[in-house]
Amino acid sequence: MFRSDLLHNRRILITGGGTGLGKGMAQRFLELAAEVYICGRREDVLRNTGAELAAATKGKIHEFPCDVRDREKVEAMVATIWNSGPLDILVNNAAGNFIARTEELSPRAFESVIGIVLMGTLHATMACGRRWLADKHPGTVLSISATYAPVGSAYVVPSAVSKAGVEALTRSLAVEWGDRGIRMNAIAPGPIPTQGAFSRVLPHPGLEKLALERNPQHRFGTVTELANLAAFLVSDQSGYINGEVIRMDGGEFLQGAGEFSSLGKLLRDEDWEAIRPKKPAKS
Ligand code: HXC
Ligand code: NAP
Repeated sequence: MFRSDLLHNRRILITGGGTGLGKGMAQRFLELAAEVYICGRREDVLRNTGAELAAATKGKIHEFPCDVRDREKVEAMVATIWNSGPLDILVNNAAGNFIARTEELSPRAFESVIGIVLMGTLHATMACGRRWLADKHPGTVLSISATYAPVGSAYVVPSAVSKAGVEALTRSLAVEWGDRGIRMNAIAPGPIPTQGAFSRVLPHPGLEKLALERNPQHRFGTVTELANLAAFLVSDQSGYINGEVIRMDGGEFLQGAGEFSSLGKLLRDEDWEAIRPKKPAKS
C-alpha cells in the first residue's frame, strides 16, 4: 500500500508499543523504514517485542520501561531519546480500561485509568511538544482514542472522560501549535481483537457476539487496518490533515446513532411490501 521508504529517517515514540495495536503500529512503521521507540510498564514484554520486531523487519527499535502516569519518568525518557536526536512523531497509544458499574468504582480505579489515558497523553505530548517548539522542529502527534469519546459510554466512564479529554487536546493544540509545524490527529477505532482490550471490555463471548451483530460489516477491525491508517496519518502524505479524529469502525458508531438502523433486522420482505404504496391499476 505504501512506498517502503514512507517513514525513512522518521523517529517515532509509541507509548504502550509492547502489545496489541501499539505493537502492530511499531511493526508497520519499521517496515516503512522508521526508527521506533516503544515504552510500557512491563520490561519483559517490551524486550520480547523489540527482539521479535527487530528480527522480523531488520529495523531499529528501542525499548524504554516507563509508566506514562509519572510525568518525571516521561520527561526523563524523552530527554534520553532526544540525546540521540529529536523525535519526529509521537503516538499516544497507552491505555487502561475495564467495564464496571460506575457507582462501584473506587477513587483509585478512576485515577488509574485517567492517569494512563488522559494524564499520560498530556505528559508525553508536552514533553515532545515543548522540545519541538523550542527547536523549531516539525512534529506530529497521533493519539488513539475510542468511538465513544464524543458521546460518552455507560460502563467505561473513566475511559470515556479521558478519551474525550484526549480529543479536546488534539483539536486545541492542532490550532495553537499548527502555525509552528506541529500536527495533531487521532484515530477512534471500533473493536479490534487484542488480548489487552478484549479481556477487559468484552470479557464474555456473548459480548463479542453482540458487538459483531450490531456492526454493519459484522466483523471486527484488524491490527493491519489500524496500522496502515496510522502510517498514513503520521506520514507527510497527510500533511494537511490537522485536528481530525478519524473513526475506523466499519460504520458501528453510525449504526448506533441512526433512529431507524435496526429496521433491517425487524422488517421482513413481506413487511416492506405491505408498507410500499400500491400503484392504482391502469384502466
Ligand atoms: C472495578 C477495578 C477493575 C475492574 C481494576 N480496578 N480493575 N475496579 N472493576 N474490573 C480498580 C482496582 O481495584 C484498583 O482500585 C484500581 O482500579 C487500580 O487497579 P490496579 O490493578 O492496582 O492498577 P494497575 O495495576 O495500575 O492496572 C491498571 C488497570 C489495568 C487499568 C486497572 O486494567 C491495566 O493495567 N490495563 C492496561 C491495559 C488495558 O487496560 N488495555 C485495554 C485498553 S482497551 P482499589 O481502590 O481497589 O485500589 C480500550 C478501548 C477498548 O481502552 C474499546 C473497545 C471497543
Ligand atoms: P493493550 O494491548 O492492552 O495496549 C495497552 C498498552 O498500554 C499496553 O502495551 C500497556 O503495557 C500500555 N500501558 C498501560 N498502562 C501504561 C502506563 N501506565 N504506562 C505506559 N504504558 C502503559 O490494548 P490495545 O487494544 O492494543 O489498545 C491500544 C490503544 O487502542 C488504547 O489507546 C486503546 O484505548 C485503543 N483502542 C483499542 C480498541 C480495541 O478494540 N483494541 C478499540 C478502541 C480503542 P504495560 O501494561 O506493560 O504498561
